[in-house]
Amino acid sequence: MSVPILTVDGPSGSGKGTLSRIVAHHAGWHLLDSGALYRLVGLAGRKRGLGEDDIEGHARLAVAMDVRFGVGQEAELVLLDGQDVTDAIRTEEAGRDASRVAAWPPVRASLLERQRAFAQPPGLVADGRDMGTVVFPEAALKVFLTASAQVRALRRYNQLKEKGSGASLSALSREIAERDARDSTRAVAPLVPARDAEVIDSTGLSIGEVAACVIELGRQRGLWT
Ligand code: C5P
Repeated sequence: MSVPILTVDGPSGSGKGTLSRIVAHHAGWHLLDSGALYRLVGLAGRKRGLGEDDIEGHARLAVAMDVRFGVGQEAELVLLDGQDVTDAIRTEEAGRDASRVAAWPPVRASLLERQRAFAQPPGLVADGRDMGTVVFPEAALKVFLTASAQVRALRRYNQLKEKGSGASLSALSREIAERDARDSTRAVAPLVPARDAEVIDSTGLSIGEVAACVIELGRQRGLWT
């Protein structure tokens, strides 16, 4: 059974998450937020009191953790072992933990099957860093979304402000630069565009313009009408 897949990879703050949600909604396809899975492994490790260098323990958790994602109106909802962790996995600390555990090959290997299980009819939009290169190399359309580090830090700043949490723009810029460096230089599944990816720079574009461009690409490839 071959399920059509659109992969959306790129660095933090490039707009992948919003783009993926818009396109999944347009197509009526399922959505995989793979970053949430890495965030959940980090959080589950903290909840179980695992050591910060316990690679095998985190890899076992990646397979065993009980994760549920909301659907429809509750699409944002994330449950870990039955507990609502929707906000807990979105903090800067959870992002740092995710990036730390994501650099470990056994954790990445343990999450592979869980991610591939999201490929269900009528189709899947998969959002992450290695969706087009490692997890779904056979994807029908691969998008790699970039934006300047400055614009990405500003978007994150505005997002946090909207949620009512304070943050300093310079601290966020530093955080983004550090996370980019760690994600792009790690030995396993580094953040790079797939050879056959469509690279889109969203620096000067609105999210609506980016979505229109990707929807048109999908239409040209016969993924939807
Ligand atoms: O996308 P998000 O910011 O939620 O991802 C959190 C972290 O998880 C990233 O900084 C990255 O280190 C890691 N990640 C990854 N591979 C993915 C998705 C996320 O390594 N496919």
